[in-house]
Amino acid sequence: MSGDLKWNKIFGAALGTAFVILVVQQASGLVYHSEAPEKMGYFVDAPDEAAGGEAPELAPDWGTVLPAADLAAGEAAFARCQACHDAHQGGADKIGPNLWGVVGGPVMHRPGFAYSDAMAKHKAEAPAWGYDQLDSFITAPARYVPGTKMSFAGIRDTQTRINLIAWLRTQGSGGFAIPAPDTTRQPGAAAPAEGAEAPVTEGAAATEATGTTPAEGAPAAAQTTPAAPPAATASAPPNT
Ligand code: HEC
Repeated sequence: MSGDLKWNKIFGAALGTAFVILVVQQASGLVYHSEAPEKMGYFVDAPDEAAGGEAPELAPDWGTVLPAADLAAGEAAFARCQACHDAHQGGADKIGPNLWGVVGGPVMHRPGFAYSDAMAKHKAEAPAWGYDQLDSFITAPARYVPGTKMSFAGIRDTQTRINLIAWLRTQGSGGFAIPAPDTTRQPGAAAPAEGAEAPVTEGAAATEATGTTPAEGAPAAAQTTPAAPPAATASAPPNT
């Protein structure tokens, strides 16, 4: 008799404990209930959308921007490349090829380096690293050369790429000419293509452009008129 009673107590206690555990579990489930995140997992960088802002199809006007580039900032930006690239003359290949003289040079300019098939395919289509090609590649390597083994997300900021390319040019590519300023690449510009040597600042070019094309509605100007003073466009008769 007394034995039965003892087992009843033990059994009762165990049941009670189990009940308490269940209750606590439920309660903490309520408190710590984890919401499913609204955005799942990985952020895949989508350069097509992310690049936005300015008209992405307008490539930099190298003849204007390179002479005005900030070489020190360009060298600083190269820190992002340095894990994989040496840019010194005679420097070794690392994870990526040495980049001495790559600006204006042939694609796959280091014969001893094991380039990807993707890069070989790219070379067949675009054999040299001109300013535009380099710029596109550095903007988004995997988009410009799909399958490249350069695992680098890219640099979105245009001025940073300009500075970087300008500095890279000083690493063995000084002989690769800077083209004359190209008015078709200057947003809203009608500036005369004169004096490629003169360091025309972007500010000066913009002022000139807004001064010369007020109300004519040149298509290029209409697209991007950030600096056009509203007063001028409103009042000025098309007399120029
Ligand atoms: C994670 C390593 C890595 C980083 C970081 C990296 N690269 Fe590369 N880079 C590579 C590899 C690997 C290749 C060869 C690509 C291939 O064969 O597909 C390459 C190729 C290149 C080439 C083509 C060279 C040639 O001979 O055709 C250029 C130009 C280049 N990189 C520039 C840069 C610049 C500029 C940066 C920094 C903004 C940079 N890379 C950052 C690894 C890297």
